[in-house]
Amino acid sequence: MNIDTTRLEGKVAIVTGAASGIGAATARRLAAEGARVLLTDIQDEVGSDLASDIGNGATFQHCNVVNEADVAAAVQTAVDTWGRLDIVHNNAGFGGVSGPIESTTADGWASTLDVLLTSVFFGTKHATPAMRDSGGGSIINTASVCGLRAGIGSHAYTVAKHGVIGLTRSTALELAEYNIRVNAICPGYIATGLSAGRSRSEIDEAEMAERLEKARGWGSDAQAMNRMGEPEDIAAAVAWLASDDSEWVTGTEQVVDGGLLNGRAWRKLPKAITEDRPVRLYAPGSYE
Ligand SMILES: NC(=O)c1ccc[n+]([C@@H]2O[C@H](COP(=O)([O-])OP(=O)(O)OC[C@H]3O[C@@H](n4cnc5c(N)ncnc54)[C@H](O)[C@@H]3O)[C@@H](O)[C@H]2O)c1
Repeated sequence: MNIDTTRLEGKVAIVTGAASGIGAATARRLAAEGARVLLTDIQDEVGSDLASDIGNGATFQHCNVVNEADVAAAVQTAVDTWGRLDIVHNNAGFGGVSGPIESTTADGWASTLDVLLTSVFFGTKHATPAMRDSGGGSIINTASVCGLRAGIGSHAYTVAKHGVIGLTRSTALELAEYNIRVNAICPGYIATGLSAGRSRSEIDEAEMAERLEKARGWGSDAQAMNRMGEPEDIAAAVAWLASDDSEWVTGTEQVVDGGLLNGRAWRKLPKAITEDRPVRLYAPGSYE
């Protein structure tokens, strides 16, 4: 893959949930394209190690996205360190509460919406003045295919991701005035800690690799493209949304799902549709 190492030169980015999975791949990709990146997460050790590994001035700051003061502090750090803010990837997340609606607790519901949706509100709110002062910017919110369709994730997850798309559309209309673009990215099944069911702080690299391999097994079957998505697939799309190449794009949902939402893979369709058969005239008298 060819990466333009200057496309994001001069730009300053914050990525939330950057210690793992999609956020980690995005932080790497934005830095590889020349941006200064502040990685934030609650997995401090893993996040700090990754920032050092990325180099190019990348730094890590603890930020629990359900805590508005943490989000505001991350924005402040980016501006204090590099003098501006151009890109925010509101990405941190988890699986949240699952199960039947009648056994879903109020606490589980609230914490799922806090982590997945209120966090995006905080990120957008605090990025706005800093980006306005910088002459504009690009906010990219990680939603999901679950933000566009029911039946793929749990109730609370589905609602939260629909909310992320609603917030994206709504804020894009307001913030265009300041040359701030807001878009959502909708990944399909991606091989990350979330799909592996564990975070990197809980298990070592070897166990994570093993779990991801297993996930790639079931994940390859879910969509037309016969492999599970990788964090880098999403990072590439986020980098495009972050760059000036997408300067006329705002308020959209970018689906990156290997064809999942489009329907059942050809290889999963009934043989009656996919197998070669002689064409028979379907007309009165021709029925058998
Ligand atoms: N993996 C998928 O199949 C998939 C599909 C669609 C959408 N997503 C979304 O992608 C985003 C990233 O998830 P991922 O798949 O990379 O999983 P991941 O577990 O690899 O990464 C999520 C990161 O978010 C961090 N995080 C969790 N709660 C946090 C909090 N309160 N404050 C700060 N950081 C927090 C975790 O520590 C972790 O580093 C999430 O919003 C998720 O809902 C994932």
